Amino acid sequence: MSNAKLPQDTCVLVTGGCGFIGSHTVVKLLEGGYQVVIVDDLSNSSEKVLDRIDQIVGDEAAERLTFYRADVNDRTALTEVFDENDVDATIHFAGFKAVGESVQKPIEYYSNNIGNTLTLVDVMREHDCKSIIFSSSATVYGDPDELPLTEGSPKKPATNPYGWTKWMIEEILGSLVVADPAWNVVLLRYFNPIGAHPSGLMGEDPKGIPNNLLPYVAQVAVGRRDAVHVFGNDYDTPDGTGVRDYIHVMDLAAGHVAALAWMAGRTGCEVFNLGTGKGTSVLEIVKAFSAACGRDLPYVIEPRRAGDVTANWADCTKAREVLGWEAEFGIADMCRDSWNWQSHNPNGYEG
Ligand code: UFG
Repeated sequence: MSNAKLPQDTCVLVTGGCGFIGSHTVVKLLEGGYQVVIVDDLSNSSEKVLDRIDQIVGDEAAERLTFYRADVNDRTALTEVFDENDVDATIHFAGFKAVGESVQKPIEYYSNNIGNTLTLVDVMREHDCKSIIFSSSATVYGDPDELPLTEGSPKKPATNPYGWTKWMIEEILGSLVVADPAWNVVLLRYFNPIGAHPSGLMGEDPKGIPNNLLPYVAQVAVGRRDAVHVFGNDYDTPDGTGVRDYIHVMDLAAGHVAALAWMAGRTGCEVFNLGTGKGTSVLEIVKAFSAACGRDLPYVIEPRRAGDVTANWADCTKAREVLGWEAEFGIADMCRDSWNWQSHNPNGYEG
């Protein structure tokens, strides 16, 4: 990607651009003036998000957005996308992401997540597009020996196939740079993305019973579920419940735009943590969401969930110093925006 290109001359391919993090990033990219191409097979997202993006950014900016319904692993379809668009850089979100399901369906997870990444980088190479931002995860740190986690903290063995796919894709993309120094790779390790667009028009819309805490809490708040199940209150944390570094999806989206601007004209492979640097317990989340929705949400204590770590939070110094990016929002903002989305869209995009 050339250093000289202005956002309006830069075309960014966003795989999984209709998903939770992808859609919020697309909004930030369009607002930043970029040309955006989404490739999404809608296997875990809704096409309706495209209208919502349009409503948020306005018709003029939305003209800079092109959508292809396609599986990233479909080489023919992907080749067509690259033939039809002069893609400068790719942000790769598309992938299966349910930790528990990955244990049941390892073949599907390895084949989809790793397979689609290999197809993507191969087609990118054929089109001489060698800039990629990858959606990695704090899961690569496993159960940490020391907190906060810096980018130099060791990668630990994953506890499930989903985690291994993130782990391995990082290695695969690192190998590209070794083989061909023209590649330009940024690995973004997300902590726990929550929240929603402040307009209430876009948010997280998991299919079926949510695996993650926030969408579950939000569904309890809106009356779709009876009570929050708190997985373990005997951890070595101040209140005994698991501690995570929750980050507002709008901050995360801004982090991608910052990384994209920073990487222009560079080569190599860089890793950044994207978090807030602050840990919050499950019970603190229930309390914060109760405040946001105006009633005490019921919860029940359950046994620990297999594979969960006690606590993790990020050291975000590198992203601040190198990318000039820092999370702005706190837990109260995240819960307010999540509630705004959920209360206006009780059944998500299809509601
Ligand atoms: N939790 C509950 N009840 C629930 C769901 C979760 O108590 O119904 C607890 C968990 O035990 C944990 C915390 O809430 O302590 C957060 O759990 P999430 O499932 O929301 O998130 P995880 O930290 O387990 O996983 C997230 C992402 C993964 C990623 C991982 C990296 O969902 O994709 O962070 O750390 F791999």
